[in-house]
Parts: sequence; structure tokens; C-alpha cells
Amino acid sequence: MDLLRDSLKDTASEQSLSDRLLHWFSDVKRDLPWRKTGDPYAIWVSEVMLQQTQVKTVIPYYERFLHSFPSVEQLAKASLDDVLTIWSGLGYYSRARRMWEGANYILQQLKGELPRNYDALLRIPGIGDYTAGAIASIAFGQNVVAIDGNVKRVVSRLLAWSEPVETARSYRHLRDTLMTWQSALQPGDFNQALMELGALVCTPTKPACQHCPLADVCKGYLQGDFLRYPVKKPKAQRQVVTRLTFVLRKGDQVYIQKRSSRGLLADLWEFPGVESSQGYIHSLNDDLPLIAGEESFALFQQAVPQGVFFDSRVKDQFQRGLFWQGPVWYTFSHRRWKIIWAVVDLSEHWDLPDLFYSLNQPDSTTAFKLEESEGEYELAASTEKNQLDKERWVSMKDLRAIPLPVAFSAIIEQLYLLKHEHIGSKMT
Ligand code: ADE
Repeated sequence: MDLLRDSLKDTASEQSLSDRLLHWFSDVKRDLPWRKTGDPYAIWVSEVMLQQTQVKTVIPYYERFLHSFPSVEQLAKASLDDVLTIWSGLGYYSRARRMWEGANYILQQLKGELPRNYDALLRIPGIGDYTAGAIASIAFGQNVVAIDGNVKRVVSRLLAWSEPVETARSYRHLRDTLMTWQSALQPGDFNQALMELGALVCTPTKPACQHCPLADVCKGYLQGDFLRYPVKKPKAQRQVVTRLTFVLRKGDQVYIQKRSSRGLLADLWEFPGVESSQGYIHSLNDDLPLIAGEESFALFQQAVPQGVFFDSRVKDQFQRGLFWQGPVWYTFSHRRWKIIWAVVDLSEHWDLPDLFYSLNQPDSTTAFKLEESEGEYELAASTEKNQLDKERWVSMKDLRAIPLPVAFSAIIEQLYLLKHEHIGSKMT
């Protein structure tokens, strides 16, 4: 017979596993802002933020987000850019975009009201199994599970579950087992207690089993091999992709463009660039590439809109050789970017007295200064009008308020650090 069931029989009933867990939770639970509200929208926000981010990082973002968008309706009516700006720094931006899409669906299809049960929540774009379970159980007291990474770890150790936890079969098994344990009276607390146990006691590498209210029924603990669980599938190697990145600078402004609404880092602003996993970038050493002028100019032409910035002085700069910097590494779930970057100087004069002067000015602008720049390097007249909100010149000061992927933070910091130096093209 199953060891866990044996120990449950010997020491307590299945119901008491839930009682013990709830008792422990009421003693030790952290005082978190989303535990003081019954508002399903606020709980939705917290659960989305907590999915890939630690509690202490989430708290200020959660408060700022609800301050800016206090209701589904206000979130839906905000621009996606404003939402991404408030999210900026929290990473995994698709979470914010999908929540905004979900809010629009709720406003248009459901009169702005979050539905009160798991099945209906699941129909909202961007709300998956976990989030629907968390909202339904915490905000509406429905008897459903909410299985996140912490819960998978806790339950797979309790059961000494020897199959990879990511599979659909494992998920069904954990879910069905949890349903037999769950408190009918406090499903939201039961789910949060499991998450809390995973966060505070049953941690990935150093679980504090001596403080665990369930140690005496934990098969992993009783067998002495709890670190074997959760069993993971062997990881596929992440592909390394080199991304050449061009920081186009004109005076104190830099050029950014918007990524497409699909794929990696969707809808975020970026410095233009090209990617390659092939060998056309010949490494000088392991870190920095050696790229001939002609070749790098051709890559530059691929990276920025057709016909823009291809003036002969810009070409000269490439031919003299760009000053490549980096690498900056950025890891996605299935890929790593090795970012190599260079400044391309589009200033009319190579030696501007203080290229980043606006950084030193008192904050005189209230709104972001995001207008198109004027002059010789203005966007080509043929550029489609709807392209205009996809490409912008932005001052260094305002750059901090734009939702750029964290991947570029190191470049931006470097640009700030070098604000008094000339970091334009130089011979390599
Ligand atoms: N992680 C995910 N949801 C959580 C919650 N409601 N409380 C604490 N940690 C969590």
C-alpha cells in the first residue's frame, strides 16, 4: 500500500493533512498586500506578477500597477505602452500584454466583470489553468486547485513522484491528489498554504523539513531523498544567437523601434539589430566579433528601415570600423542572446560639446519627448504614416521610461556611464 496513505492512516486522516496545513498557514503566513483584498481583479494582478517573480520584487510593482490601473476597465482603457511602462523592470512582458488583452475582453464581452468561476475565467485570453484556479479559489472560494512551481515541488516530494513533473500525466496526478486533500471550506487558503510552504519551508535546495507541518507524512522526507523531487525532464540545450545591436545616436537622442506584436519580446521597444546563429560573424576571440566594414554596413541595412540612415557619412563610419562592445548576455527559455553593440553616430558634427546635456538639466519636461527628430536624418518621406509610432528618437533622459527589454539595460547603463565621453565610431 502507498506509504503516504499508510502514514496518513497511522497518524491522521486525509482531512487532517489539510487541517494541519491550514493551521500552519494561519500561524506563519506573510502579511502580503494581495492577502488583504477580496477584489478578484487585484488577485488576478498579483497572481500574474507572482508567476515568474519573487514576492519581494512583486510588492512595489503590484501597488504601483493598481494605483495606475485600479480596475479592469481602467486597465482595458489604458494604452498598451502605458501598461508596459508600469511593468517595466518586472520582465516577461508578455504577461502584461496578455493581461491587458484579457481586460479588454472582459470589458467588451463581460461588461467589465471578472467571472466568478474557474471555467468562465479560463475562457479569458491570457488566463490559464493556474491563474483561473488561483482567482476562483482565493477570490470566489471555489474548490479548485492552483498548481504553480512551488506546489509541484511540495506535492512531488510528499508523494515521492518519480516522473517528470512537467508532463500532462503528472499534472493530472498531482491535481487529482490535491483535490482529495483540499479543504472544502477554505480552498483559497489551502492553495496559498501550499505555495507558502514551497516558498518558506520546502525550498528547492535546502528545505527546512524540521519546520514542515507535513514532514511525518512526506514520502520524500521519510525516504531521505526529497532533493530528488521534483523530477525534471533533461533540459534541451539553449541555442546561442548573436545579436548585433546598433545604437543610433543623434545629439542626446537615440533611435528606438518597436518589435512586432508576435514572438519574442513582443511590442517592446528595442535598439535595432540583426540576429545570427550562423558563422558569418567571425569571432576575433570568444567575446567580440571581427566584422568587416562592408559586411557590418549590410547588416545595419537589414536592421533598420529601408532607405533610412544610409547616407555616405554613415557608410564611412562603418568602413572606418565600429567600436563593438559587449557581450551582454540575455537568456530566454529556449535561447540565449549574445548581444554585441556599437554606437552609430548620426550627429551633424562628430564632436558635440556635451552629447548628453539633457541628462544634466533639471527635469523640465513633464511629458515624454518622443517626437520625431528633425533634420538631415529624418525618416524618409515615403515612410508609411503608421510606421511613425513604431520608430522614435528619444532623449537619453526619457529612455528610462520606455518599456525596453531588460536585455538592453546594460547598454543603456553603459550609455549613461559614458555620457561625457565620445563613444562614437572609432578605429578598431
Ligand atoms: N505565489 C503565487 N501566488 C501566491 C500567493 N497568493 N501568495 C504567495 N505566493 C504566491
